[in-house]
Amino acid sequence: MSQLVGKRITLGVTGSIAAYKAADLTSQLIKYGAEVQVIMTHGATKFISPLTLQVLSRRPVGVDIWDEGKNSVPSHIEMADTSDLLIVAPLTAHVMAEFAHGLAPDLLTSVYLATQGPVLLCPAMNGKMYHHPATQANLKTLRGRGHAIVDPAEGMLACGYEGVGKLAPVEEIVSRTLAILG
Ligand SMILES: Cc1cc2nc3c(=O)[nH]c(=O)nc-3n(C[C@H](O)[C@H](O)[C@H](O)COP(=O)(O)O)c2cc1C
Repeated sequence: MSQLVGKRITLGVTGSIAAYKAADLTSQLIKYGAEVQVIMTHGATKFISPLTLQVLSRRPVGVDIWDEGKNSVPSHIEMADTSDLLIVAPLTAHVMAEFAHGLAPDLLTSVYLATQGPVLLCPAMNGKMYHHPATQANLKTLRGRGHAIVDPAEGMLACGYEGVGKLAPVEEIVSRTLAILG
């Protein structure tokens, strides 16, 4: 369980019903020895408390891009420069679209644009949202950029809809992380 010792991971969490699974993912990454910097969108904070992820990651969670403290280098640039891997799990349709189009209205999307290293994206959403041509076009753009994508799983979704869209199992996200960084 020490394959990620010395590795710095930025974990972006967005406003999906699956956001609570980021707690388990954070815990697993910490157990493998990684340093984990969590960034949440404001939407994600509606689903899980930053305090939970702060305690599990053992460091403050980034949410507000304007919350610079006494930093002289903007946090979003520093986070991007000092990270070995950016994981976004769960990734909403909304943030996927922002990434695809280069929009950077908040901390996570700004870190994404400043990131030059590997990116691992784990979409989760209702199947109709996932299959929408806009979402599929955005996914294609992001794959074309060379980002690793952990495809959503099939099953009963939280909205009651049966089909594709569930966040992939945390074990699968961890094993893709180990394959990239291990
Ligand atoms: C109960 C509930 C569950 C949601 N689950 C998802 C989801 O799994 N995936 C998704 O893309 N959007 C989901 N949404 C919609 C997003 O929360 C919404 O698009 C929000 O603006 C996303 O903000 P963010 O992408 O900046 O985090 C959900 C909304 C609600 C109210």
